[in-house]
Amino acid sequence: MLIETHNLRKTFGDTVAVDSLTLSVGAGEVFGFLGPNGAGKTTTVKMLLGLVAPTAGEARLLDHRPGDPAIMGRVGFLPEQFRFPAWLTAGDFLDVHGRLYGLPAAERRARIPRLLARVGLADRARSRLGEYSKGMMQRVGLAQALLNDPALVFLDEPTSGLDPLGRREVRDLIHELRAAGVTVFLNSHFLSEVEVTCDRVAIVKRGRVVRIGTLAELTRQTTEVEIRAAGLTAEVVMGLERWGRAIADLGFGIADSASPIRNPQSEIRNADSARLTLTIASEDVLPEITGYLVQSGARVYAVAPQRISLEELFMRVMEEEE
Ligand SMILES: Nc1ncnc2c1ncn2[C@@H]1O[C@H](COP(=O)(O)OP(=O)(O)OP(=O)(O)O)[C@@H](O)[C@H]1O
Ligand SMILES: [Mg+2]
Repeated sequence: MLIETHNLRKTFGDTVAVDSLTLSVGAGEVFGFLGPNGAGKTTTVKMLLGLVAPTAGEARLLDHRPGDPAIMGRVGFLPEQFRFPAWLTAGDFLDVHGRLYGLPAAERRARIPRLLARVGLADRARSRLGEYSKGMMQRVGLAQALLNDPALVFLDEPTSGLDPLGRREVRDLIHELRAAGVTVFLNSHFLSEVEVTCDRVAIVKRGRVVRIGTLAELTRQTTEVEIRAAGLTAEVVMGLERWGRAIADLGFGIADSASPIRNPQSEIRNADSARLTLTIASEDVLPEITGYLVQSGARVYAVAPQRISLEELFMRVMEEEE
């Protein structure tokens, strides 16, 4: 594990910023840390980097204590709010940081132009940071976070202030990092961005993790199943009612002479593509339902739990009572 925390907690006076945070992030994972404003995301990252002392609990980073100089050379960080010296050019600024990391001159000369190109600033390398726009500053920040070729990088709202093109570029950058085996801890509000970049996510609310898992696990809507089958009869569909409520249009109408009301044995029209949605109590009943359909002679194409978007999940979690 590259990151491990156990019951990590931080309070500021009466404010509980982070509460009983236990999580682990493995090598090569892109981990999304989501939550509303003030949920404790930045405080968590700062504790993991050794910039804020926890009130209680433990954190380990690359098997060391956070902030240990032995590992910080392998860690990158894009802070949420930063001020870089306005009088330096982007190139000089990165050079100073490279020297702080102890990178040899030859390596700095090779790496800095490459990084500036990667964040879309190749033609502005000689402009002073004081002349940079907000999004350009954010891009310099990203270059700075990747300067030491980190094994683990923390990105706190990397796309804040970026235009749509910049956001896409950050997304591509995260994909590249993942392909290179770099572990990414991403704080973000942009759910669509998290949806396409992260392997696993945690949703935090008032300092507590309320959901954690892979995107597939979290967005599977376990109570709604789509069934697609051929050879369904109305009787078979009615039989499904013992597990839940069928709520979809089945391709037959009441006025139809083959309506189940007149003739329960009749095969449903459009039988090759008969689709229905069943609301069930839990996905534990799916094997039973599938068995029942097959035994009834239906040809089953899909018994698929429906998915919700990450945004929908996020909204539902925010509405939940404590
Ligand atoms: N230095 C501090 N002093 C006092 N309170 C603080 C301090 N830093 C953070 N907090 C409080 O801790 C809580 C969590 O803040 P944090 O910055 O970690 O949230 P966040 O999830 O990063 O929010 P955002 O999405 O707005 O960046 C908030 O209630 C905040 O007011
Ligand atoms: Mg924050």
